[in-house]
Amino acid sequence: MSTPHNEAKRGDIAKTVLMPGDPLRAKFLAETYLEDVHQFNGVRNMLGYTGIYKGKKVSIMGSGMGMPSIGIYSYELFNEYGVESIIRIGSCGSLQKNIHLRDIIIAQGACTDSRFAHQYELPGTFSAISSFELLEKAVHLAKEKGVTYHVGNTISSDIFYHADATSSEKWASMGCLGVEMEAYALFATAAYFKKKALTILTVSDSLVSNEETTAQEREKTFTAMMEIALELA
Ligand code: HPA
Repeated sequence: MSTPHNEAKRGDIAKTVLMPGDPLRAKFLAETYLEDVHQFNGVRNMLGYTGIYKGKKVSIMGSGMGMPSIGIYSYELFNEYGVESIIRIGSCGSLQKNIHLRDIIIAQGACTDSRFAHQYELPGTFSAISSFELLEKAVHLAKEKGVTYHVGNTISSDIFYHADATSSEKWASMGCLGVEMEAYALFATAAYFKKKALTILTVSDSLVSNEETTAQEREKTFTAMMEIALELA
């Protein structure tokens, strides 16, 4: 069995899938952190791998950029491959002065400017939230590792190059910590299938300052985010 976008057979994919946006990052992470790795998908180069981390089976697959892309892959993982949890590990832009490059944001929820949830024809607005079980564990692990992390709301946007330069300020004024482009669709898809999802983000740029960071800091938080996600599997 396969889908138009995934050539894996049932059983090739673990119950928990970690999803970076970039498929080459999925390859790097699988080769760096997992044992007994095998590639289950190569369709459209959206690389996916399954291997073993500390004795547990775990998969890592690219999501692509944007809600249409993660919407497709997460739908198929939940619906066709028996996946129970998807943990997005991505990057975001900081919307708050106190949130610096390479800090970690654990998304409690996501707002959106997308129509993604309109498909459900709800009589109101869908609030896309993370699995509390995964969120609580991730916070505990982040605390243990001593990394700088923030937990709160985020904004998943359809638009990277926004014509309205003030749009990010408006979301910031409602308390959103960071902007990215996938979490809302992932949370909504998980809710639709009654499955679990979490989004962990490393701040890659800031919409409020022009700060820079050292390679050492980058390495440290990136590794921490990965280890948090792997330990949730
Ligand atoms: N905007 C949207 N998505 C992002 C950004 C951003 O500034 N940084 C990383 N992902």
